[in-house]
Amino acid sequence: MLSIEWTATDGWLAPRITPYQNLSLDPASCVFHYSFECFEGMKAYVDPNGRTRLFRPDRNMARLNSSSARIALPTFDGKQFTDLIGKLVELDKAFIPNKRGYALYIRPTMIGTQKTLGVGPPGSALLYVICSPVGPYYPTGFKAITLEATTYAVRAWPGGVGDKKIGSNYAPCILPQQQAAKRGFQQNLWLFGEENYVTEVGTMNLFVAWVNKSTGKKELITAPLDGTILEGVTRESVLQLAKETLGKEGWDISERKFTMQEMKNAADEGRLLEAFGSGTAAVVSPIKGIEWKGEMVNVPLQEGTESGPIAQKVMQMMNDIQYGHVEGHPWR
Ligand SMILES: Cc1ncc(COP(=O)(O)O)c(C=O)c1O
Repeated sequence: MLSIEWTATDGWLAPRITPYQNLSLDPASCVFHYSFECFEGMKAYVDPNGRTRLFRPDRNMARLNSSSARIALPTFDGKQFTDLIGKLVELDKAFIPNKRGYALYIRPTMIGTQKTLGVGPPGSALLYVICSPVGPYYPTGFKAITLEATTYAVRAWPGGVGDKKIGSNYAPCILPQQQAAKRGFQQNLWLFGEENYVTEVGTMNLFVAWVNKSTGKKELITAPLDGTILEGVTRESVLQLAKETLGKEGWDISERKFTMQEMKNAADEGRLLEAFGSGTAAVVSPIKGIEWKGEMVNVPLQEGTESGPIAQKVMQMMNDIQYGHVEGHPWR
């Protein structure tokens, strides 16, 4: 693990890479009482030449700095921190099987360590990174999921911190996910407001492909970054890849609000084409149905498969870049 301590008086101290080990913290440490914690999730991949590659680490660094700044934790130099993560990954390289689908999951974490029960900005912090090898999310091919649209709880709200990757955003989301699981759904879908705006799915961003009723054009749509949506690195990448591919085929690629009712109407009128979640863990997660207000909104899949064509294409393109099969790609 990589550890870097920070104090308000001395700033960042020398980084250390040590064996994975327990932390020793005073029980009064502010992380335990007031949730001074933020984190990132990223992966290192091994390319055909045996080299390790991080996927767009600058985006994770920017997001971690934005999260830490919001909860009065210190910020850091993203480039230097990426170099340190690179050193850790090199040391752990033997744990990453050199096969498509396998990677080293990297979890940068920052906590406030100040020993005080007084509520205030932490005078000390610890930035650390742990890793774990991960295998393919879908070892036997895609498995489309069903969602329960949560109408009794919200994940984020305007003026809140839904766009930050802070621990305190995650614990309250488990209960609705457990409730959905109890009723047989793999994930819950987060809605917002009386309009039932579609926001995110579990801990993934959400994409919907449909034929837009007013323009008659095919559209790939995702909720806009209005402060309530986590700014997914995969989301941003999918949007860009979609603009470069579907965009050239006449599709509209949109970041704007849309409602569950609009999705239901599209399904009822045969205009709904596909839906999938996007995130670092799975890259894309095809969706086959959403239960909303007691009714199932069915999402089409490509015949004989557990996915739609866009999710399949996105997975292929993303993996090609992540595993270094695209020479000189800027996201390597
Ligand atoms: C709430 C939430 N939304 C979306 C995402 C997807 O983000 P990314 O693509 O950066 O993994 C995550 C995962 O980090 C998340 O926790």
